[in-house]
Amino acid sequence: MTGLLNGNVAVITGGASGIGLASVQRFVAEGARVAIGDISDEQGARIAEELGDAAIFVHTDVTDEAAIANIITVAVEKFGRLDIMFNNAGNQGDTSAMAELNADGFDRTLALLTRSVALGHKYASQQFQKQGGGGVIISTSSVAGLQGAWAGAAYTAAKHAVIGLVRQAAAEFAPLGIRSNAIAPGTIMTPIMANAFGVPREDATEFLAYLSQELGPKIPLGRVGEPEDIADVAVFLASDLARYVTGTVIPIDGGASAITQGTFGPDVVRASAEFLDGARV
Ligand SMILES: NC(=O)c1ccc[n+]([C@@H]2O[C@H](COP(=O)([O-])OP(=O)(O)OC[C@H]3O[C@@H](n4cnc5c(N)ncnc54)[C@H](O)[C@@H]3O)[C@@H](O)[C@H]2O)c1
Repeated sequence: MTGLLNGNVAVITGGASGIGLASVQRFVAEGARVAIGDISDEQGARIAEELGDAAIFVHTDVTDEAAIANIITVAVEKFGRLDIMFNNAGNQGDTSAMAELNADGFDRTLALLTRSVALGHKYASQQFQKQGGGGVIISTSSVAGLQGAWAGAAYTAAKHAVIGLVRQAAAEFAPLGIRSNAIAPGTIMTPIMANAFGVPREDATEFLAYLSQELGPKIPLGRVGEPEDIADVAVFLASDLARYVTGTVIPIDGGASAITQGTFGPDVVRASAEFLDGARV
């Protein structure tokens, strides 16, 4: 590692698993200190303990405005400042098709995936201004924020809206030296995939292997993604290497969103149903 984030303090939401966890580990390896925000208390606390002085865990439900404000306060109390806010927490949200849209589920999904990102910008930018300006915000959108048919309607809308927020933030915060960018992961092998399809926890590893086998060949770079593929781009955006980059969205999807996918979304649903019916690698 090359110390790209030496001396930086980051808040990473959803840092107890998957993309967030890989990012916590990469940020610390690059010299950052990190406050991990998640609702998964046991896992978050264990990860923070493993990382020693470089990390703390703060129970944070990103659907709660006060909790987002709190993790920034705690990070500043513990580490003295804030340099990077990574709005990443999420799950698949309400998976209803539009014809059966559930209004409450839709609102909950947007609160989790979109409102949390807006509030992350609000409180991080306030802290950055207290410090005299400067700072980086990264927000996790999705290929479902770029195209339809990757997920349910609520998730698709929520992840498109994340990109809108980042563009708005670029305009509002550039004068303060604050950069804001989105990342758009493709099919990344994390627990979210198993959770989304109701695969029992004990079958999750084999399920991900089955999905990799079924879906990898359809992706231009020939494989599904790993959390570390995303974490590396997050490090780039957080670092001075990206000093002239704001208001963008970077797809990290092996080229999947660059081509016409045809039936990729339905293929994921089909492969998941096959797995639950007993198909194995
Ligand atoms: N895995 C993929 O293929 C993929 C693709 C595109 C986008 N994403 C996005 O990446 C982000 C991370 O997902 P992941 O794949 O690493 O999944 P994951 O399930 O491994 O991790 C998500 C984390 O968010 C936490 N979380 C859920 N609800 C929360 C809440 N209300 N408050 C705080 N934390 C909460 C979970 O406890 C978990 O630790 C999500 O925003 C997801 O939508 C994932």
